[in-house]
Amino acid sequence: MKVGILTGGGDCPGLNAVIRGVVRTVSNGGGEVVGLLRGWRGAIEGNTTPLTIQNTEEILWEGGTILGSSRTNPYKKPEDVQQLLATFEKLGLDALVAIGGDDTLGVANRLYHDHKLNTIGCPKTIDNDLSCTDVTFGFDTSLNIVTEAIDRLRTTAKSHQRIIVVETMGRHAGWIACESGMAGGADYILVPEVPADLKAMCDVLKQRRAAGKTYGIVVVSEGAVIAEQEGFVTQNARIDDFGHVSLGGLGQLVAEIIEKNTGIETRYVVLGHLQRGGSPSAYDRVLGTRLGVGAGRLVLQKKFGRMVALQGTDVVDVALADAVGKLKTLSPEFYQDSAEFFK
Ligand code: F6P
Repeated sequence: MKVGILTGGGDCPGLNAVIRGVVRTVSNGGGEVVGLLRGWRGAIEGNTTPLTIQNTEEILWEGGTILGSSRTNPYKKPEDVQQLLATFEKLGLDALVAIGGDDTLGVANRLYHDHKLNTIGCPKTIDNDLSCTDVTFGFDTSLNIVTEAIDRLRTTAKSHQRIIVVETMGRHAGWIACESGMAGGADYILVPEVPADLKAMCDVLKQRRAAGKTYGIVVVSEGAVIAEQEGFVTQNARIDDFGHVSLGGLGQLVAEIIEKNTGIETRYVVLGHLQRGGSPSAYDRVLGTRLGVGAGRLVLQKKFGRMVALQGTDVVDVALADAVGKLKTLSPEFYQDSAEFFK
């Protein structure tokens, strides 16, 4: 059995653990694995690299992805889908493991349904916003990076009696912002799922200052929506192949609003791609490994059109079709738990 594997979309720590898990499991089952380079682009262009137990043994602790990634969408041009199918044929692939978020897995699902391609999905993203899985690998590492950043920013905020606004990634899901804000004891958290009340936020910050707290930390998710945003141009307005606008820049606006309304000196930090870089946490190494092994087993069992997922402590498989198209956003109840600390 010959199996292709690719990593698509924004990279995250833990991708290499999955690759290693798939390669080990498929190889143990007598199969052969080939890596397609730079996501769906590699599948279209036929760019590959052989993967073996030997050449994937030392990648477990490495960040990023040894296969490279891209946000290429083969469905943007009909000829690309045809090209991809031709590559599949030419390479003699019996199955394809696609490791990615909603966009990458959406393509895997369409190829399975439209062309009976034997695809299997594996959920990745620091945003933690994929349905049908309790957690996506990459999220834990990212959360720890942001929490550490908040801890560091707190000491300088304290020294200078400032408020520091920390802008996190997460796109339209507030998991990173909410959980890092909770872990870092933030004074206020803004997430996309809950309408922002900036007056309430400024009142809280002023009250705390009056009560003797000499500094403040506010965590803002890049996808939070605030009324004052209208007309504000964020960092850039790039649109990717899947139609997503590039977010970023809200932290600056929030910092300006805070300084104007509270009179307290305020700075902002955009953590950006730091949140996706570096070595995976132990949790993500284990989750990535288990999902990789799970995906490899699905290949050997010929259970296609499925995605491996974590439910409770078990690795299970779900229909790809059920996992894509609907994001798993932060629940209002989760946010309310964090909000107890900024009333
Ligand atoms: O989906 C992962 C993610 O890191 C988002 O949190 C963020 O909005 C986006 O990717 C950034 O994308 P890029 O790497 O293309 O700038």
